[in-house]
Order: sequence, then structure tokens, then C-alpha cells
Amino acid sequence: MARSFHITTFGCQMNERDSDSISQILVDKGYRQTESIDDADIVLINTCAVRQKAEEKALTHIGRLSRVKRNRPDLIAGVIGCVAQERGIALFKRFPYLDLVLGPRNIYHLGKFLSQIEEGRRRISCLDLASDPTSVPKCNGYVKGRVKSFLKIMEGCDNFCTYCIVPFVRGREVSLPAERIIDEAKYLVSQGVKEITLVGQNVNSYNTKNKALPTFPGLLRSLDSIAGLKRLRFTTSHPKDLSDELIDLFAELKSLCPHIHLPVQSGSNKVLRLMNRGYTRDDYTDLIKRLRKTRPDIAITSDMMVGFPGETERDFEDSLGLIEEIEFDSLFSFKYSERPGIMALQLPGKIKEKEKQTRLSILQDRQRGITLSKNRSLEGTLQEILVEGPARRGDSQLTGRTLGNKVVNFASRTDLKGRLMRVRIVQGLQNSLRGELLDRQD
Ligand code: SAH
Ligand code: SF4
Ligand code: F3S
Repeated sequence: MARSFHITTFGCQMNERDSDSISQILVDKGYRQTESIDDADIVLINTCAVRQKAEEKALTHIGRLSRVKRNRPDLIAGVIGCVAQERGIALFKRFPYLDLVLGPRNIYHLGKFLSQIEEGRRRISCLDLASDPTSVPKCNGYVKGRVKSFLKIMEGCDNFCTYCIVPFVRGREVSLPAERIIDEAKYLVSQGVKEITLVGQNVNSYNTKNKALPTFPGLLRSLDSIAGLKRLRFTTSHPKDLSDELIDLFAELKSLCPHIHLPVQSGSNKVLRLMNRGYTRDDYTDLIKRLRKTRPDIAITSDMMVGFPGETERDFEDSLGLIEEIEFDSLFSFKYSERPGIMALQLPGKIKEKEKQTRLSILQDRQRGITLSKNRSLEGTLQEILVEGPARRGDSQLTGRTLGNKVVNFASRTDLKGRLMRVRIVQGLQNSLRGELLDRQD
């Protein structure tokens, strides 16, 4: 029987996409994917270091491999992703049973490293941050049986927001060649993928450093013309790089979904400046107005942070005011977490953990009300959804997402996976919508 692999993925869409690439590399090498660690020959953990909690979770997981490896010494155990980059070879010291430590920019060489391990080499690490993602052979994502997929259009980040570890673990920003992206999109569509989400730490700065190449709007236009690609999304956009041309595409391109994730982080100009975000609160609210004017039904989601150094009660009130003014469809919110190497370490005015927790609870409470009323306001409307498969709760429920990226669960006696269907929203809940199936849209 073919040898098998298992990957656990933490973190953002970039990591999810990286795991898909790794799966493809392994499938090409003749391995098969397995759902259970207990019968895998290769176990990989793709890790996130963005907050301390995420990193601790990764380390706990790596620690659990100790038992698995003791029972099966032949197992190949590897850590990849952002904690691998951050901790580097120190991981071999703490977890002596590890065979492989690979930073996110070096995952494409996995095939070569595995062959070396199989030949008896141990403890291989590759942490070259300058590794150029355009110099490795094209590596499509493994999407067997999937109706949607991520597609990476850039690697790294040059923004250096003062709280963020990403530029240190993912390296400098590099945009991938447009032809490669378009080829992969066509490949994904040929595999049955109907919806593609372009991913990068800062997608709308795609190629801004090389004026001769297609811009991000240009890339979106090319992708929009691919026959069979029903839905196009992108994430994450940075407010400072959101051009009018890009905003206009929300009214122009047929496949581009009316949803944007546009992290704001804070409603206080002082905090935004300390974070090095490069925009003011007014710049941000102005962008939202323009987006809504261009595409009135656009869903807007965001990230917000509380307890950044120097954030006073008043700054926090500004953030609360902003979420009430904008009314995000949903919001990811976090307590500021200290990370090694970030610039914010040097800032005065550290906020106590208890205060951060209080602020986070207040913020999340307010947002819960906003999200629920947004979801309820969709009751009675007709929505197009892309059916993804059975809903988590079972009882012949299927699940899909609206153009605005909201989850809709609905009853169906037939399998409609991969179909675009029209549903009537019968109930708006906190985290999803309940729908009633109407007819086919494709
Ligand atoms: N590139 C994206 C996302 C980066 S990480 C962007 O620019 O928006 C995702 C989110 O994690 C960020 O938007 C931010 O809200 C949060 N985050 C990043 N570093 C953090 C830290 N040190 N503590 C708490 N939250 C953090
Ligand atoms: Fe981090 Fe800022 Fe880059 Fe996003 S834009 S990855 S928050 S440094
Ligand atoms: Fe985490 Fe790395 Fe993404 S730190 S958020 S997995 S880029």
C-alpha cells in the first residue's frame, strides 16, 4: 500500500494554501493523504506565530508527536510554517524526535528533503528567508474533490506594522508571475474548482513595485475572463493600497464577489500611527463609503486589535465608535500579543492583560449585536450560494456560502455539491443563515 501523510494546519489562508501545495508535492511522490495521524508515515504540522497563543498551540501539538514517534520510530515528523521559521533549529533541541524543520519560503523543496530523510539523513532544516518563490517550479494546490481553492499570488510582506511578526517569518514581498497564476487558475477550474480566493499578505500591492508588469486590477480582469470560474475573491487587502480602480472592479467584473476583508486594527489615529498602518480613520471610512457606493450590497469584514501599547480608554472608545459607524458584517478581534523582534516591543504604555481582556469582551459583545442584526436583515432575501457539501450538523443539511461569504445551511434530499443554487433566507443566526432551497443558477 502507498505510504501516507497527514498535515495539521494552523494559521491563515497562506498556510492553508501552503499545505495544499505540500499535499500536491507528496501526492506526486506517490504518497496518499490520510485523515488519521495514527496510520500516517509522514506527519507534518504547519504552524502560525502571529500571536503567542497560536505559537503555544503549535508547540503543544509538536510535543504530542513524542508519543506517536516513540511507538513508531520510522515515522517522519516535520514542522513547517511560521513557527518553524521563528524558532528554527532550536526546535530540534526541544523536540529531539523531529526530522524536519522548514520555513514557509522553503516548502517547495520538501520532495528533495524527504528523499534525503528516506536515505537515512536526519534533522534537516531549511530556513532561507531570501528564497525566491519565482525560481521554484510551479506547484499547484491539491484540490481533489473540492469546489473552492486558495491561489497564492505573492509571498512575504514589506509593511512592517509594528505589532506584526509576519515580515520576519515570511520575508520580503515577492509577487508571483501573472502567467503562472492564470495557468494555475485554469488548472484549478479543470479540476472542478468553481471559486478561487487569491491569497497574499497584502494582495492589493501585487506588482506595485514593478510597474512594467500587470497590476492587481489587471490580474483580476484576466482571471475574470476564465470560462468556468464562477467566483473570484481575494484576501487580505491593505487599506493603504486600495485604489479607485480596484474598487470599481466590484461593479465591473462578473465573477468578483461582493465581499472585502479590509483589516482596520484601530479606530484611533494615534494608535494607527503607532502601528505604522499608513492611513487615518477618515481614510478608512472614506474607502468604505466608496466601496458601498460602487457596490451597495458589498459585505465588509475586518480585523481589530485591542490593548496595543499606549491605547488609552479614549482610543479604545474610538475603536468602539468605528465599529458602530461602519457596521462590519463580521469582525475578527484580538488582544495585542507581544512577539519577538517586533517594533512595538519598544513602545511605552503596555496594557495589562486583564484590561486587554475587558476591552476585548466589550468589543466582541458590541460586534455580536451588529453581526446578528446584519444577518437578520437578510431574512426574506434571495441569495446565490455555491454548495460546498454536507453541513456540519448533518440531518441531510447542506452548506454553502453567499456572494458576501456568509454560511447558509439548508435542507436538500439531493447532493448539490459544486452547484450554484438560489435560496431564500429564512433565518439570520449569529454565525450563519438558514435557507430554503429554490432553484439552480448555473
Ligand atoms: N496581512 C494581513 C493579516 C495579518 S495577520 C493584514 O495586513 O491584515 C492577521 C491579523 O492578526 C492582523 O490583521 C491583526 O489584527 C492580527 N495580529 C497581527 N499581529 C498581532 C499581534 N502581535 N497581536 C495580536 N494580533 C495580531
Ligand atoms: Fe503584518 Fe501588517 Fe504585513 Fe499584514 S500588512 S502581514 S499586519 S506587517
Ligand atoms: Fe500566522 Fe504565518 Fe499566517 S504567522 S497568520 S500563519 S503568515
